[in-house]
Amino acid sequence: MIKKTDFLVIGSGIAGLSYALKVAAFGKVTIVTKKKIQKSNTALAQGGVAAVFSELDSFDLHIQDTLDAGDGLCTREVVKMVVENGPKRIMELARQGAHFNMAGDGESDFALGQEGGHSVKRIVFAQDLTGKEIEDTLVAKVEENENITILEDHIAVDLITFSTSVRNGLVVTQTENLCCGAYVLNNETGEIETFYSGITLLATGGASKVYLYTSNPDIATGDGIAMAYRAGASVANLEFVQFHPTCLYHPEAKNFLISEAVRGEGARLIDEQGRRFMEDYSPDKELACRDVVARAIDNELKKTGADSVFLDISHLDAAFIKQRFPNIYARCLEYGIDMTKEPIPVVPAAHYMCGGVATDLNGKTDVQRLYAVGETACTGLHGANRLASNSLLEALVYSHNAYKTSLEEFKTIGNKITVTLDLWDETNTTDSDEAIVVSHNWDEIRRLMWNYVGIVRSDKRLQRAKRRIENIQQEINEYYWDFKVTADLIELRNLATVAQLIIEAALVRKESRGLHYNIEYPNRDDLNWRHHTNLKKQF
Ligand code: SIN
Repeated sequence: MIKKTDFLVIGSGIAGLSYALKVAAFGKVTIVTKKKIQKSNTALAQGGVAAVFSELDSFDLHIQDTLDAGDGLCTREVVKMVVENGPKRIMELARQGAHFNMAGDGESDFALGQEGGHSVKRIVFAQDLTGKEIEDTLVAKVEENENITILEDHIAVDLITFSTSVRNGLVVTQTENLCCGAYVLNNETGEIETFYSGITLLATGGASKVYLYTSNPDIATGDGIAMAYRAGASVANLEFVQFHPTCLYHPEAKNFLISEAVRGEGARLIDEQGRRFMEDYSPDKELACRDVVARAIDNELKKTGADSVFLDISHLDAAFIKQRFPNIYARCLEYGIDMTKEPIPVVPAAHYMCGGVATDLNGKTDVQRLYAVGETACTGLHGANRLASNSLLEALVYSHNAYKTSLEEFKTIGNKITVTLDLWDETNTTDSDEAIVVSHNWDEIRRLMWNYVGIVRSDKRLQRAKRRIENIQQEINEYYWDFKVTADLIELRNLATVAQLIIEAALVRKESRGLHYNIEYPNRDDLNWRHHTNLKKQF
């Protein structure tokens, strides 16, 4: 049976939920989410949302900081639009019920934090649990909205595009690539359901799980990027993977971030001997941009052979630390580290994809009726390196723009295009008896990406990674067509696609810029490379 919905939203972080709430006033919305609705990368965001609220700040300053961090690759028009719309969107969120730390009684008297690359304090935060505060607020609103259906434990397999329909013998007059829904695995029943939608929004978050060490949860497998690419959408700038400089280093801690806000409050990076090494790398020391700090730590670790460096905030008042960072304090204590008294062992880990599905100023991709918002998109805001706390901001601004534009598109669709979709066909597939293939390949991809496509790259290593990923992809494809599709297999297939795209983009760019550092081309080359890296599947 085909399920019909006006707006299909894939993903339940800040981008998907903000968009869903707005379009729900005009049609039926279905949110498809892989796990439980609250489980998103958004919910883990600690730092906050960057926007101009201080009298010491200005749009021009925020724009300039974003451009500087982006190392010559941001799209100025996009940066301007996002920065100028930021305060409005944050006020909207506050009015929806999100509680941010306040410095005064006025509605917008937010307490503002500092993070790397920002020339003034401009981070709106809710202690060190900003993402959770936002996610909880939006989830509560979505759950009470009668026009929104939430499908948990449902994972999208592939987008259904017009070209698919043509292959299935349908006669439609449209000539351009057009998305009209998705195949979705109901993980409770094991059935693949077919969704027809007027508009489809990809809000599936990032793909940092493609690396062995990451700050991201297990769900960050690049599903939106991989599906969009397979459907014929352009993807851009995937070589720019942001490694967060400070993830907790502890054998039992999985993916725990020590927020940049800790450095913003004065924490220092030191080595095993207690030496403050960032002075050797940048006049901005610990508050240099993330690419600089992550590379400096990587260099220190390689030079000394140490397992980690340390982040020390113990010189500040213990009561302040506990009140400002209750979550980080408690988590560190669980692992026997009292951050009010001793330094925290930290290492860099994959954190954020600056590239993704290429969109215009309204989140529109080059496939009709398909939009992408949030980390899964590449809008041109982040360029070669994202400025801290600009990501939640981007998701808020773009979900609003996408709502406005997609609504117009939705109104023009009417009944003009009626397609008959093919149901999923599982003929000749059997239940897998070799789950080991999936777990082995998953592990191999993450290791090879970490070792060959990490913070410091070379053409030789990238070529090696390319050969390996091609073999793995071949194996996954054979497996995919022979066996019944499972959630693990869908994620593995997506992870492999994203890995292939990161490698391909990294091989294309013959320079070093922002987050992409290749020892064979150590300099930035504005003459030849001041442009985005676009990749599109050839059919
Ligand atoms: C952090 O809290 O350090 C993460 C903020 C971000 O990635 O923008």
